[in-house]
Order: sequence, then structure tokens, then C-alpha cells
Amino acid sequence: MTSPHILVVGGAGYIGSHMVKMLAAQGYAVTTLDNLSTGYRDAIVGGEFIHGDLADRPALDRLFAEQTFDAVMHFASYIQVGESVKEPAKYYENNVTNTLNLLDAMVSRGIKRFIFSSSAAVYGDPHTVPIPENHSKDPINPYGRTKWIVEQILSDYDTAYGLKSVSLRYFNAAGADPQGQLGERHEPETHLIPLVLRAASGRAPDIKVFGRDYDTPDGTCIRDYVHVEDLCSAHRLALDGLMQGKASSAYNLGNGSGFSVAEVIATSIQVTGCNIPVTDQPRRAGDPPRLVADARRARAELGWHPQFDSLDTIIAHAWAWEQKLAKR
Ligand code: UFG
Repeated sequence: MTSPHILVVGGAGYIGSHMVKMLAAQGYAVTTLDNLSTGYRDAIVGGEFIHGDLADRPALDRLFAEQTFDAVMHFASYIQVGESVKEPAKYYENNVTNTLNLLDAMVSRGIKRFIFSSSAAVYGDPHTVPIPENHSKDPINPYGRTKWIVEQILSDYDTAYGLKSVSLRYFNAAGADPQGQLGERHEPETHLIPLVLRAASGRAPDIKVFGRDYDTPDGTCIRDYVHVEDLCSAHRLALDGLMQGKASSAYNLGNGSGFSVAEVIATSIQVTGCNIPVTDQPRRAGDPPRLVADARRARAELGWHPQFDSLDTIIAHAWAWEQKLAKR
């Protein structure tokens, strides 16, 4: 039997590159499609690479005519909440229109398995925490809306065209390849853990804490940090399910435990042994005080067992990667 062939769109990015590595290591045939607008060629450490853009429908049609794919994983979207408020057109065009191009090209070639990188941002400001999948979807920014729009498109495409999909709603993706080969390289970086570690390594002067007046025990925002490798193992399990003919679904991916910004900084000081200068800043617009996943459905239905669920391990892996970047 030949190995399943998976197209990983956005395989040069943070989570996509870890996925490509895992799939290749597990014997899948992998092809990455990426326009390298935010990803890196040297982050693709397995399979084939095609430089291409989802806006280019004829190129997608050619790709699907030339090669056979058993499933598509889609990681290629813009992810900055603040930017999405200032430039919504950029977000709707890339995250929605370009995704439609991909889905339509798939449907026209009869490719019927799709795994989508969704987000906790679909829930907006939650009224229940931990957040279950059936919580109301009320995104509070264009980024979150793009993710929820695509989820709804996927439901309609299943009904009309039989396209089976799994939407994986990531909470706070963090950490790095346990083997130290890959990690997070966003420019500009906006995420807490890599920025805390830049302050630890001396690549940044300090970490700015956005608000200490939230209604949480220490006043800083609480998030559910989930290791990138565990996100990838959930994709692998979702893929297996689709290959076995399971129905379309959506799952939260988080560890179910929340850590405050202050706790992340304290753990980083412990893990790195470095001094981390802190500067207090006002709240960042649009930050909900508490986002924690109820991820029992992924455990029960996908058989997902996060392996790197301690904050220390997540930070230790991200720190090994930051030290590598600091030496470049
Ligand atoms: N934070 C700081 N200082 C920083 C950066 C972040 O205090 O320099 C705080 C934020 O205010 C927030 C927490 O750290 O309270 C986490 O912020 P991140 O930017 O790391 O992550 P978010 O929770 O804002 O965003 C993540 C994903 C988004 C997704 C969102 C879902 O990165 O893609 O979760 O709500 F939309």
C-alpha cells in the first residue's frame, strides 16, 4: 500500500513546519505549498516544496491535476488580531477568499478531506470558562470572524459536496520542536512566550505586561498554552479519523489549565535562570481576561493525549529555540 499523500498549505510557517516534519517522520508522503510571505524555506524539513499562492486558482488547478492528494491541511492564514482590526480586507482576502479558492479547487478534483486551523478566537469573550465547543460563536475581531466564516463554509461544503473536514480550534500555540530543529519565527513577534524569552536572552530590553487590572487572581490575563507538537499530534489523529470515514467535526485544542501572564514570566525566570525585566503597560485592546479550553471532546473522540502539557516543558523547548535564534 502506498503512503497517504498530504498537502500541507502553509507548511513553512510555525505550526505547519512542525506538522510537515511529523508527517514525514511517520511515513506519510508530504507536499508543502507556501508563498513564503511569513514562512521560511529552511523550516520545511521533509517532503516536497512548491512555492505558490492560494490566490492563484489556475496554479491550484494545475497542482491538483498533476498530483493526487488524500487530504489537505490548511495552516496558511494571517494571525494578528490587532492587525486584523486595522486591515480587515487583508484578513478576509487571505483567510476567507483564498481558503475558498483552495476548497473549490479541491471539490472540483474530488479531494474530500480537509483539516483546518481554527482558533479559540471564534468564541469571542466567553461567558463560560473552560469553553466547550458548543459555546456560542461571537468573535470580537475580524481575525476571529474569518475563522468562524470558514468553519461555516466547511459545514455547507460538507452538506453540498461531501467535503469532510475537521476544524481544530487552537488555544495558545507555544513551545518548539523537542529536537530543537524548528520553532516560532514570527516577524513581528506578538506572542507572549517568545517575547518573554527574547527579554531573557537579551534580544529585547524587557517584556511588556499588557494590563494588571483584570478580574483574575493576579490581575493579568489567563491563557491555555498548548505545545505545538501536541497540536500536530491532534492533526494526525484527525487525519486518521477522516481516512477511516469519520464525520466532520470541530475540536478545541488546549490543556484545560490556565496560566496568567505573571505566571508565564515567573516560570520563564525559573526555566531560563535569567533576569527578565518587566515593564507594565495599559491593557491591549480586545484581550479577553480568561481563555481556557474544555478539550475533553478531542481526548474522547480523537484519542488525543497531549504529551507536553506542563508549562515548564513548553517554555523549556521554546527557550532552547530562542537560544538558537539568539546565536544566529
Ligand atoms: N501579552 C503581554 N505582553 C506581550 C504579549 C502578550 O502581556 O508582549 C499578553 C496578552 O495581553 C495576553 C497574553 O499575553 O493577555 C497572551 O497573548 P498572545 O498575544 O501570546 O496570545 P493571544 O491570547 O492574544 O492570542 C492567541 C493567538 C491568536 C488567537 C487568540 C485566541 O495568538 O491567534 O489566541 O483568542 F486569536
